[in-house]
Amino acid sequence: MAARLEGRVAFITGAGMGIGRETALLFAEEGAGVVVGDIDANAAKETVALVEGRGGRALATIGDVAIEADVRRMVADGARHFGRLDVLDNNAGVLWKDRDRSVLETDEKWWDRVIAINLKSAFWVTKYGIPELRRAGGGSVILMGSVSALAGFTRAQDAYTAAKGALISLTKSLAIQFAKDRIRCNIIHPGIVDTPLQAPYLTEALRREFEGGIPLGRIAQPREIASVALFLASDDSSFMTGAELVVDGGFTAG
Ligand SMILES: NC(=O)c1ccc[n+]([C@@H]2O[C@H](COP(=O)([O-])OP(=O)(O)OC[C@H]3O[C@@H](n4cnc5c(N)ncnc54)[C@H](O)[C@@H]3O)[C@@H](O)[C@H]2O)c1
Repeated sequence: MAARLEGRVAFITGAGMGIGRETALLFAEEGAGVVVGDIDANAAKETVALVEGRGGRALATIGDVAIEADVRRMVADGARHFGRLDVLDNNAGVLWKDRDRSVLETDEKWWDRVIAINLKSAFWVTKYGIPELRRAGGGSVILMGSVSALAGFTRAQDAYTAAKGALISLTKSLAIQFAKDRIRCNIIHPGIVDTPLQAPYLTEALRREFEGGIPLGRIAQPREIASVALFLASDDSSFMTGAELVVDGGFTAG
């Protein structure tokens, strides 16, 4: 079978670890050049080394997705190095359960920072990335939502939840605006995934509690989200835009 992203280039934010790293590895396996964007230089370089170790092509570019100048430079780095961009995977996000809680308990400083990383990042990535996709003749934009955007939880992370919810509306607006440019935009809503983002909070007791509420009886592995990103990045999803893909082991179906 032909590689599904042969000749394409993907900019993936937060590709230094977790779902983003797994997505970089999978996209590279499928023939893409990957631009590994991350705030953590060591993590980004490690992902690049892993991709290259498997015979793939990758570039590390370091910056904060919440900062306009950083994202503009990261997009330019990727486009210059590979000569084009076809996929924007706005994956970077933070879940800070200690600082982002109920509106009653959260400081403005942390509200703003969580919203900036999880939501404003999509503004910068698409503002600077979509012109590159247009130059390439079309492409795919992937936003990373969460089941948190679809349901309230008793353990509140209100800034995270609000940011992920707003990404749904942005997905639809981008899908409608840029369909004429052959640019599709879709959003993935993962349930709980075994990544460094969850690691500080996933005690054995909490893991068992979560797993009890998931019909498939377990939390996801990063590759199970990366494979959905691959579907959205590739022509396999050529008639999909403005869609939400829930990947949660049945959690929100219950
Ligand atoms: N893990 C889950 O359970 C889960 C569930 C639903 C949604 N998600 C979403 O999936 C995405 C990836 O999550 P993950 O679990 O792989 O996270 P992770 O913490 O394992 O990895 C996130 C990566 O993003 C990078 N990053 C963080 N802040 C950044 C910034 N300001 N600028 C640039 N890079 C930054 C980190 O350095 C890290 O490499 C996030 O948007 C997250 O909200 C995750």
